[in-house]
Amino acid sequence: MTAACNVVVLISGSGSNLQALIDSQADGNPACIRAVIANRADAFGLTRAQGAHIPTAVLDHKAFGSREAFDAALMEVIDGYAPDLVILAGFMRILTPGFVRHYQGRLLNIHPSLLPKYKGLDTHRRALEAGDSEHGCSVHFVTEELDGGPVAIQATLQVNSGDDIESLTQRVHAAEHQIYPLAMRWFAEGRLRLAEQGAMLDGVTLPAAGYQIRI
Ligand code: GAR
Repeated sequence: MTAACNVVVLISGSGSNLQALIDSQADGNPACIRAVIANRADAFGLTRAQGAHIPTAVLDHKAFGSREAFDAALMEVIDGYAPDLVILAGFMRILTPGFVRHYQGRLLNIHPSLLPKYKGLDTHRRALEAGDSEHGCSVHFVTEELDGGPVAIQATLQVNSGDDIESLTQRVHAAEHQIYPLAMRWFAEGRLRLAEQGAMLDGVTLPAAGYQIRI
C-alpha cells in the first residue's frame, strides 16, 4: 500500500477546482487533503471544505505589512499540516521567491491557458481577441517565474465560432476539473516529479507543454 500523501490546498474564491480535488479522493488515491487555506474569509471554497470535513484556515493578506510577512505566516500555517504537496487552486496571490523555494518540487498551480501562452490574468478574453482556434488550461510546478514553471498536464479544447468569454470560461473550467485531480493523483502515487530537466512522469521527462489531453 502507498503511504498517504498529505495535501494542503490554497484558494481565494469559488473553489470549484478544490471541489474536483475533494471529489477525486477515492478509489485508492493516496492523496489526502489535510487542510484548505484561504486569503479571503468570503471564499466559497471554505464552505466546500467544511462540507467535506476538511479543516480550514483564513489568513487575510491585508492584515500583513508586506508580502514577505504574509508569506512567512502562510508557510507557518501550511507547515503545521506537514504537506507533501501544496496545491494552488485559484489562489490569486503572487508568491515571494522565499515561499516558492521553500515548496520547490511540491507546489502545483493551475492556470487557465495553454502555457506559455497568456500568463497572468484575462486569459479567455485574450485567447478570443487573438482569434485562437484552441485554448485550454495547464497544471504546472511553481517556480519563481510567474506562471512559468514546468508544465505537468495540459488540456486543449477547440474554440467554437459561437464561443464568448462566458462559454469559454465554463468549458476551460470543466477541463481544469479533469486535469487537476489527475495531477494530484499522479503526484501522490509518486509518478509525477519535478527534476532538474523539467516535469517527469513515470521517470520520463515530459515535453515542454506537459502531458497532453484533448477535450
Ligand atoms: C481557475 O480558473 C484557475 O485556473 C484560475 O482561477 C480559477 C479559480 O477557479 N487561476 C488563475 O488564474 C491563476 N493564475 P475556482 O476557484 O473555481 O477553482
